[in-house]
Amino acid sequence: MDSFLIEGGLPLRGEVQISGSKNAVLPIMAATLLTSETCVVRRVPDLSDVAFMAKILRSLGAEVTLENGTLTVRAANISGFGDYELIRKMRGSICILGPLLARLKDARVSLPGGCVIGTRPIDLHLKGLRALGAQVEVDGGYVRVHAPRLDGQMVFLGGRVGPTVLGTANVMMAAVLAEGVTVIESAACEPEVIDLAHFLIAMGAKISGAGSPTMTITGVKELHGAEHEVIADRIEAGTFAAAALATGGEVILRGARPDHLGAVLDKLREAGAQIGSSAGALTVKGSGVIRPIDITTMPYSGFPTDMQAQLMAVACLAPGTSIISERIFESRFMHASELMRLGADIAIEGPSAIVKGGQPLSGAPVMASDLRASAALVIAGLSAGGSTQVNRVYHLDRGYERMELKLQALGARIQRVPGE
Ligand code: EPU
Repeated sequence: MDSFLIEGGLPLRGEVQISGSKNAVLPIMAATLLTSETCVVRRVPDLSDVAFMAKILRSLGAEVTLENGTLTVRAANISGFGDYELIRKMRGSICILGPLLARLKDARVSLPGGCVIGTRPIDLHLKGLRALGAQVEVDGGYVRVHAPRLDGQMVFLGGRVGPTVLGTANVMMAAVLAEGVTVIESAACEPEVIDLAHFLIAMGAKISGAGSPTMTITGVKELHGAEHEVIADRIEAGTFAAAALATGGEVILRGARPDHLGAVLDKLREAGAQIGSSAGALTVKGSGVIRPIDITTMPYSGFPTDMQAQLMAVACLAPGTSIISERIFESRFMHASELMRLGADIAIEGPSAIVKGGQPLSGAPVMASDLRASAALVIAGLSAGGSTQVNRVYHLDRGYERMELKLQALGARIQRVPGE
């Protein structure tokens, strides 16, 4: 397994191009299953999760090519029965369920397991599909959904902690080919859901209200092929912004969308970053002083859970006490104990982490536990004295395109050490 070796202590300086969004492209890839015609998707990031999703589409019978950031899918003849092992391994693949049900009226996929960040149930996805008329059977590790026809309905998708991103995507993708009108109440408002809606509309779907809690979908008989360019990855942009602040550097984020980063930029400013925006770019500058922050993760437009770990790394550098509360995923604090190996002072009290920052961090070998936790460890390693080895960076490769090369171009001393 590859690892990153980081010699910390240098400020990041320069420009970085922000890649297409992982969490936008995965459901968009699933949406290509809704038509037998060719779909072309541009600005597709080169990530292992994307390669994996391409494999899943191929296993269902789709023709898929992926070259230089352009993905072409033709799902002319597909099966609704997915490969158990493939689908089980990537949680994001659950969003093939809605399109397969809509197109074939019968789909069976393996149930995604929990993961290190929490239990991650799919009850809301299934509730939404049931409301449209699907029968749902869970048996032998599979979930099967089938319906002779789907009918538009009012569907309430709010859960224990609010809306569900991929659940909203699944119900949307089933509703686009249903008879009549579906209204999703408490729909997820994330920019990735809006990007999916734009792709579906380009395919001929009738959707209004995407990006608001009430989304209306009027079913159509069929969808056609379409072209689309994926939005910039707000979490990648936020991660580089946090790294700029943590290292006291200055980084221009080309292609970043400030309109998708409101809560993140607000907290970075509070922590001491100077932020400017110009056409097509954001500039983030560390002022040399880092202040403590209080953060509570929430559904969009609140502070994203996918940036919680990276901001915890920043909080470790701020003299004083920061409180970081995680409200979306119950066990998304695995990075805390690894940050402590670098010298951080963090106590976990229920859903909150109390970070007493300001002691200099010093390099150590650490273990990445999930994608965003790994990003936090890289940020901490870049700002720590000495060398940090981040093990298991395959987690990072799932969601950050060529991260070490982008950081090297910003002046960081970071290299990939191939594992055996
Ligand atoms: N939930 C339920 N029932 C459901 C579905 C979700 O109770 O049927 C709960 C979850 O347990 C969680 C909350 O609702 O407490 C929100 O989960 P959500 O369904 O929104 O998460 P997701 O759609 O499975 C996506 C992203 C995650 C991101 C979350 C929250 C993708 C592929 N994944 O997951 O991204 O953290 O939304 O914003 O889009 C990441 O990129 O590192 C990542 C984990």
